[in-house]
Amino acid sequence: MTHDLHKMTCIEDLRQVAQRKVPKMFFDYVDSGSWTESTYRENSSDFQAIKLRQKVLVDMDKRSLASKMIGQNTTMPLALAPTGFTGMICADGEILAARAAEKFGVPFTLSTMSICSIEDVAANTTTPFWFQLYVMRDREFMRNLIRRAKEAQCSALVLTADLQIMGQRHRDIKNGLSHVIRPTLPNLWDLARKPEWLMKMANTNRREFRNIVGHAKDVHDLHAFANWTAQQFDPTLSWTDVAEIKELWGGKLIIKGILDPEDAEKAVQYGADAIVVSNHGGRQLDGALSSIRALPDIVSAVGSQTEVWLDSGIRSGQDMLKAWALGARGFMTGRAFLYGLGAFGGEGVLRALEIMYKEMDISMALTGHRHLQNVGRDILVKGTYPISEREQNETVEQKRRRIYEELYGWPRASLRFGTMW
Ligand SMILES: Cc1cc2nc3c(=O)[nH]c(=O)nc-3n(C[C@H](O)[C@H](O)[C@H](O)COP(=O)(O)O)c2cc1C
Repeated sequence: MTHDLHKMTCIEDLRQVAQRKVPKMFFDYVDSGSWTESTYRENSSDFQAIKLRQKVLVDMDKRSLASKMIGQNTTMPLALAPTGFTGMICADGEILAARAAEKFGVPFTLSTMSICSIEDVAANTTTPFWFQLYVMRDREFMRNLIRRAKEAQCSALVLTADLQIMGQRHRDIKNGLSHVIRPTLPNLWDLARKPEWLMKMANTNRREFRNIVGHAKDVHDLHAFANWTAQQFDPTLSWTDVAEIKELWGGKLIIKGILDPEDAEKAVQYGADAIVVSNHGGRQLDGALSSIRALPDIVSAVGSQTEVWLDSGIRSGQDMLKAWALGARGFMTGRAFLYGLGAFGGEGVLRALEIMYKEMDISMALTGHRHLQNVGRDILVKGTYPISEREQNETVEQKRRRIYEELYGWPRASLRFGTMW
């Protein structure tokens, strides 16, 4: 297996290099899902089942994937997802990833559970990033986090709604990965075989959860931190808290972790500027729908009222193109950029973005389009993609209306003028 950055041609290449360079307990932390990992696997396999329609002899020159997410211009409609522990996948990981995102022209989201702090990432970047909020029982701490994110000029708050309690990943338990890393013999032996990682870690002092240590009450060291987090995720979090958070924040609010159309409707009601259809990358409720299968019902319920984005399982630009064709208007990726980061640091994140851009761009061209904004469901082979329950049950007249709206973007004229069909 080559370790040459320029020979990395797909996300799987980056994954394999990361596996060799990142200590096993951290690589497994990234590369696993909860319980049987069925949702984790289906997040990817459900994408693969969708087939694209090839079109030939159409003008494919001068293409563009440029888009907007919550009004912000992006090179392609993709943001780096919030991921905890990122500074342990590679030293200073959050700063390196944020800089790569900045260079490529896509948003970066900093997790509450990051190693580098909000202030540190702000000081080392020039473009405003997004901040992801986990709501803790200690509401004073939460209010402080929101204040700090505002002071750091973060341009959106991403409220994660699907982690009031934590799903279980077997490998983390078996590897002894808690918030304090256990110095077991296998862990130490593994660390000894990852010299590049060790050397970079030795050269940074960013090795603890800096949004929390020194900020939360009585949390001044890693041991206190472990006890604190074990008790702090708030299982009572509810929609009424969302209203308070929106008010406190006062800026763009993205709600992440929606899988059900009723929840999507509530998110709109509570003022979400965008929602992320997500199962947390298969890390929470094992047995839940893959996000691409959940998408059509959610687009059907709220697609005309808010921006519907998607994450979980995106490993190529083709995945994004397919989800776009089904109505998603933005994406987040977690593991794809983490593999790049673990393999080659910031350069690897950039490479992951380049790979996915190229895949999306070429696939769009070969399905007959030059501008992403014109891509619709007609690029997909009928019978291979999921459709909403509403569509499955619609009458012939409803179907006509829907097709008309899809074609022309506005409701069909009233029957007074005669049917168009
Ligand atoms: C290693 C890892 C850590 C994560 N940590 C967080 C986190 O701190 N906050 C959060 O909202 N989501 C977190 N997530 C979920 C991601 O934001 C995102 O929903 C998920 O990675 C998308 O799936 P994908 O990895 O298949 O792209 C994490 C995901 C991974 C893989």
